[in-house]
Amino acid sequence: MNSRRKPLSSPHPLGAALLLAGLVATAPARAGEVEVLHWWTSGGEARAAQALKATLQAKGHTWKDFAVAGGGGDSAMTVLKSRVVSGNAPAAAQIKGPSLQDWAAEGVLAPMEELARAEHWDDILPKAVAAQMKYQGKYIAVPVNVHRVNWLWANPEVFKRAGAKLPTNWDEFFVAADALQKAGVIPVAHGGQNWQDLTLFESVALGLGGADFYAKALVKLDPDTLKGPLMEKVLTTFKRIKPYTDKNSPGRDWNLATAMVIKGQAGMQFMGDWAKGEFIAAGGQPGKTFVCLPAPGSAASFSYNIDSFAMFKLKNAANSQAQKDLASAILSPEFQQLFNLAKGSIPVRLGVAMDKFDDCAKTSATDFNAAAKAGTLLPSIAHGMAVPTPAEGAIKDVISQFWNSDKMTVKDAQAKLVAAARTR
Ligand code: GAL
Repeated sequence: MNSRRKPLSSPHPLGAALLLAGLVATAPARAGEVEVLHWWTSGGEARAAQALKATLQAKGHTWKDFAVAGGGGDSAMTVLKSRVVSGNAPAAAQIKGPSLQDWAAEGVLAPMEELARAEHWDDILPKAVAAQMKYQGKYIAVPVNVHRVNWLWANPEVFKRAGAKLPTNWDEFFVAADALQKAGVIPVAHGGQNWQDLTLFESVALGLGGADFYAKALVKLDPDTLKGPLMEKVLTTFKRIKPYTDKNSPGRDWNLATAMVIKGQAGMQFMGDWAKGEFIAAGGQPGKTFVCLPAPGSAASFSYNIDSFAMFKLKNAANSQAQKDLASAILSPEFQQLFNLAKGSIPVRLGVAMDKFDDCAKTSATDFNAAAKAGTLLPSIAHGMAVPTPAEGAIKDVISQFWNSDKMTVKDAQAKLVAAARTR
């Protein structure tokens, strides 16, 4: 395991001497410490984070937890910026999508290319994923998983009681929502936080508008598409969902919304498959106590959200080695299985056995491959995959204002989206 050579920059004089004598390669590596910034604090997330911690500890290193609560990670990213600005970066941080490029451009990330080559990351990762992990052609981050965002989670018992049918398109969705409402349950458990509003919105956009529309509107940010008739329909449909949520939804955390479905207080929730981690952590069984189905109309598409870790440059050689050991462990088949079983996602490493995974994960893996072939594999805008962070933030604000306001018209929202898309 810890057989890699210590970096030549080892500040320890004895380390350097041993290295020259060629003794270090076989000697056990000195234990290091990795401070890891993440936002995995809910039940399922915490189990997954624990798997990461245990894996690092098994290599003889110390895990220093730096958890910043807040689904979607906006708070974590704010804290990260202030730590880096004050010259006190953590060793590792959960950073995703295009923002990886921004961090790399700042020159603060530790290169991972050497490790990536030694461990053949180009061969074990899907090409599109590998490309996102590179800056100027070289690895600067390691991916952990693939989450699918366009899921609908439902409580089948509640549906049965209400005589409702699980919806496969938006017309069916509103029929089911009416039936649930009549039966006295909250049709949609929603957490009214801006990133959750945008998560719901992107599923409506994908399900109603289709993959091409989604790509034009929410990846390329094409102004004509943003102000066009299909976007008008998407925004109108999105807003039609609001009366099916409850009045306590503003500010609610996503995992508390999931808990409402688990307890049968609500019929369904739109959320990425980290929600499955909550159902499982609460003892739920897929297909029995809860069901996963693609968000209405979006079965042929897959909006992805890939969690990844970047490492910050460190001076201490033992800690740098610990960073590398963590990155290496993350892509091992054993870890990919252990972590993703808890997290609700699927392995990002190609060829990991899926036999221990449930049907939701198996569907996700099959649909990921099918969507990649069909050109309907799309980056999630709500989860930092699709557009630069400033534009994402501005779009998130517009969608959330539109969801919450009684006054903003669909046309106003469209004009605001066009302006938001220009934010740099
Ligand atoms: C996502 C992240 C997931 C997740 C979720 C809720 O952005 O990629 O790993 O757990 O936020 O916190």
